[in-house]
Amino acid sequence: MNPLNMRELLADWDKRGLMYRISKEVSPEYELGAVVRALKGEQPVLFENVQGYTVPMAAGLGGNRKLMADSMGLDENELLPKMVDAIINPIPTNMVPTGPVHENVILPPFDLDDFFPIPTFHTEDCGAYYVSGVLVVKDLEGKKRYTSIRRMKFIGGNKTNIVITSPELNRQFAYFEERGEPMEIAVMFGVVPAVVLASQFSTHLFHADKLDVSGALLGQPLDVVQCKTVDIEVLAEAEIVLEGKILPHERDQEGAFGELGGYYGGNELQPIVEMTAITYRNNPISQTIFPSSSEERLPMCLVREMTLLSTVRQTVENVKAVHVPMAAAARLHAVIQIEKRTEGDAKQAALAAFASDKDLKHVVVVDDDVDIFNPEDVEWAIATRCQADKDVFIIPGAKGSPLESSHNLRGITAKMGIDATYPLSEKEMFRRTSVPIEIDLNDYI
Ligand SMILES: Cc1cc2nc3c(=O)[nH]c(=O)nc-3n(C[C@H](O)[C@H](O)[C@H](O)COP(=O)(O)O)c2cc1C
Repeated sequence: MNPLNMRELLADWDKRGLMYRISKEVSPEYELGAVVRALKGEQPVLFENVQGYTVPMAAGLGGNRKLMADSMGLDENELLPKMVDAIINPIPTNMVPTGPVHENVILPPFDLDDFFPIPTFHTEDCGAYYVSGVLVVKDLEGKKRYTSIRRMKFIGGNKTNIVITSPELNRQFAYFEERGEPMEIAVMFGVVPAVVLASQFSTHLFHADKLDVSGALLGQPLDVVQCKTVDIEVLAEAEIVLEGKILPHERDQEGAFGELGGYYGGNELQPIVEMTAITYRNNPISQTIFPSSSEERLPMCLVREMTLLSTVRQTVENVKAVHVPMAAAARLHAVIQIEKRTEGDAKQAALAAFASDKDLKHVVVVDDDVDIFNPEDVEWAIATRCQADKDVFIIPGAKGSPLESSHNLRGITAKMGIDATYPLSEKEMFRRTSVPIEIDLNDYI
């Protein structure tokens, strides 16, 4: 049975030697983040001794494909099919009267930073941030739950900022703000990677209840409890939950902050959240994600790969696999592997990818003998199978991603498609070299 809560998952990984425990005291100001960044957010790590706190902090849980899959009892290659299945067949949550997350309930007045570490990450960040909290809200009819992750700067006392870039959630907050009403929220910390992954499924594409999708990814219904001060359900086995409301017509300066593209974002007015309760398990484990590390990027890439695979296949049926590399801000590049059947398949696949995802900037299409997860192999294909005057096309002046600096300079983006497939008529000439026997290197070295 897959661990449904973070402490069981950590215990399992610890037992199997897949996790680092750090007993040395680390400061939540820069030092903790520096360690996670040095590990690229790809390695689960538990900080047992965070300066000024008795509560440990976990990081790096879902930044590695193998471990992300492992946390759901899957092999890497089973991840995308499982995600598609989870969207089609979500498993409804199970409402329980109470759960471990309500073992401790703190009501105002409180200072958020008295309880759990709130790390500061980059040199020029404007303060300490919650980066990993999975936000839960309800739709305007108060029925469907909707999860996402939004960074929250600690302002002081029981207040934080919240940065919302998704149109859907912004529209929802605007609805309440127009009426002068606060918008209720809950934020869950200390959850398994499946819950983070599900939170990244695009709402405007799938309109799924992402807690139900989380259950399907884990193969079991997840228990939820009713929050203490807001009308929202949260996972009964989350380590920590902050309950609160986004205040109407109140803003506070937020930024600079080190963003996904690898640069600092500006300083802007952002909404304010007032927390109305903190609830947590006995002996809680807090959780963070280093901004723009693999742990932030991988769920974004996986969701984009899943979407691209199905949309590109609608026009080019012989698509074998799609990869959205993490390095390109988890959204700007895609590599598509096809089994080419007719000339034109490759350019058509690139066009279909651009049509399906406005954030994409550069798309490379390769044959099915190229390993799309190996950047060197993709570079080899571009180097040896592509002629720039025939195989590269550029579409100027299209929409792009606001997370990309060169796009923001002009407000528009050029799209470049690269056909790195060889001509069908030249199969013999483009045969890859090989050796006729398989060996196991361990037998020799
Ligand atoms: C670690 C992490 C941090 C994120 N921080 C933010 C953020 O500060 N603001 C934001 O709008 N989206 C942020 N996102 C992306 C949203 O969570 C994501 O776009 C959303 O949940 C899914 O799209 P939806 O809004 O269409 O449902 C973050 C994602 C991750 C994984």
